[in-house]
Amino acid sequence: MDAETAGSPTAPADPDGHLPGTRDAGVGQLGPTGRPLPVFPEPAPLAAHGPARIIAMCNQKGGVGKTTTTINLGAALAEYGRKVLLVDFDPQGALSVGLGIATHQLDVTVYNLLTERGHDIRDVIQTTRVPGLDVVPANIDLSAAEVQLVGEVAREQILARVLRPVLDDYDVILVDCQPSLGLLTVNALTAAHGVIIPLECEFFAMRGVALLVETIEKITDRLNPRLTIDGILATMYDGRTLHSREVVASVVEHFDDRVFHTVISRTVKFPDATLAAEPITTYDATHKGAGAYRQLARELIARGGAA
Ligand SMILES: Nc1ncnc2c1ncn2[C@@H]1O[C@H](COP(=O)(O)OP(=O)(O)OP(=O)(O)O)[C@@H](O)[C@H]1O
Ligand SMILES: [Mg+2]
Repeated sequence: MDAETAGSPTAPADPDGHLPGTRDAGVGQLGPTGRPLPVFPEPAPLAAHGPARIIAMCNQKGGVGKTTTTINLGAALAEYGRKVLLVDFDPQGALSVGLGIATHQLDVTVYNLLTERGHDIRDVIQTTRVPGLDVVPANIDLSAAEVQLVGEVAREQILARVLRPVLDDYDVILVDCQPSLGLLTVNALTAAHGVIIPLECEFFAMRGVALLVETIEKITDRLNPRLTIDGILATMYDGRTLHSREVVASVVEHFDDRVFHTVISRTVKFPDATLAAEPITTYDATHKGAGAYRQLARELIARGGAA
């Protein structure tokens, strides 16, 4: 059942449709993560663009909100005047489809950039209906890349090399990883400055996170010393259930201030927006889900995770 329609005898629905603590935040007010909620200021416009900070959206668990977060955080950052490039790094192509791209009709995708020489990434980048938001699409071709790249020299650094020519054109590059810790994800983590880890507010949310953190640490040691965890993002949160609140509390206990204050509530508007091939920020601009991703964009900028 959708969180907005689910009745609860203990906590009445928020009549404004806003997340608890995401509105009128003031010093000392507790946010949904149980910590005092800071105010994240409207980001100042940028005088110039680039070089991009690269962020990998990563969790090897499937269906936790990686693609939804990539699209909507990207769209929110673009609304704040940032130049944003999204990289679809999942052969399922959900990010591309979610932005209205007919993936089966593509001649060149990120796959060609990774496996063939002589392509210009600018020929693969597509604009979206959101000003300032561009995308490098993918389709099922990408599923062959892991096997093909295994024998390559510096096989972990291929995405970093692919992105280099456009680093100065963008402020933020978000890479939507597939649900695995295979070579494509290792490439994303090697190219990235930071990682955002979406966690679904469900039983076993933390299962697998230790392995992910271990992988990130190995990549920091061996391939990419600048890599940091930008934040853990609680998704599909329903503040009216004790369960959601307990999951968030245990994630905060574990990861402390690495957990974003912003949480993303569960709402059918997200799958609806995906069907409409739009970010929620344009599909239903005043919906609390759109507000939550704008707040995440402000929080990321306030933390130094984006320009
Ligand atoms: N906050 C939310 N509330 C309700 N549904 C959501 C929310 N976020 C994502 N969804 C839905 O949950 C499903 C999984 O989300 P998404 O595709 O973003 O996850 P993912 O981690 O990218 O999955 P995969 O691992 O398969 O790539 C999608 O149908 C999406 O529309
Ligand atoms: Mg996905």
